[in-house]
Amino acid sequence: PAKVTLQRLAEMKAAREPIVMVTAYDYPTARTAEQAGVDMVLVGDSGAQVVLGHDSTVAVTVDEMLVLSGAVRRGVRTAFLVCDLPFGSTEVSDEQAVATAVRFVKEAGADAVKLEGGGEARLSRIRAIAEAGIPVVAHVGLTPQTAVALGGLRAQGRTAESAARLVREALAVQDAGASVLVIEAVPADVAAVVLPALDIPVIGIGAGSADGQVLVIHDLLGITEGRTAAFVKRYATIGADMVTGVAAYASEVRGGVFPGAEHGYAATDEAVEAARA
Ligand code: KIV
Ligand code: NA
Repeated sequence: PAKVTLQRLAEMKAAREPIVMVTAYDYPTARTAEQAGVDMVLVGDSGAQVVLGHDSTVAVTVDEMLVLSGAVRRGVRTAFLVCDLPFGSTEVSDEQAVATAVRFVKEAGADAVKLEGGGEARLSRIRAIAEAGIPVVAHVGLTPQTAVALGGLRAQGRTAESAARLVREALAVQDAGASVLVIEAVPADVAAVVLPALDIPVIGIGAGSADGQVLVIHDLLGITEGRTAAFVKRYATIGADMVTGVAAYASEVRGGVFPGAEHGYAATDEAVEAARA
């Protein structure tokens, strides 16, 4: 299949062909996404939690995201590759934001970068990065990098003020030059107001139906431990399979069952004799 481009994503929106996006953080998850035929792959800063073990996204650094992004790039051929710009890498100035975005393109091969928020300073960053020629994916609604300021990881757009702000920000990020918008954790009825108002593709996560959907791959495969957000659907139980597999290996090593003769190398009698001598 041909490489997915921004033009292809726009065509899909126009044709009402749902856009499928999933996160990836390393070569095997990138290969999984690619082989499953998804349209967009996101190296999310959710990797801070799902692969680095932090309890929020704010801890992950640009250098760490670049390592994850490079690994994903090597596994993705046709899907459109988006890399998250982590917290702290765009807040200082437009110049800082452009310099960070350039690193993701040059060092990791990103097709686009994603940044959270739709306030005035964020719009200025989106404009600056887009003007530098780097496609921008905007992200409004629940923005985990600033969750503390939002009062926690909670749905947005549930009050009159919050819903009005969401619609205002969605329109503003498009005007600022964003090529795609992610809307996270917003009532479907509120997100439904935004959808027809935008020309750019809108990818939902916990926001009802949109032009496309995104989920964290560890969540949908059932690798994530414990509770996940209400908007997650599990399509597999890979985490349990991983534990079962390693436990079976441990049991065979302890029981002297593994390795068997078939897992080794044959030698000539002369070689064995020489080794003994
Ligand atoms: O980091 C991430 O995984 C994300 C998606 C949930 C949109 O930003
Ligand atoms: Na993210």
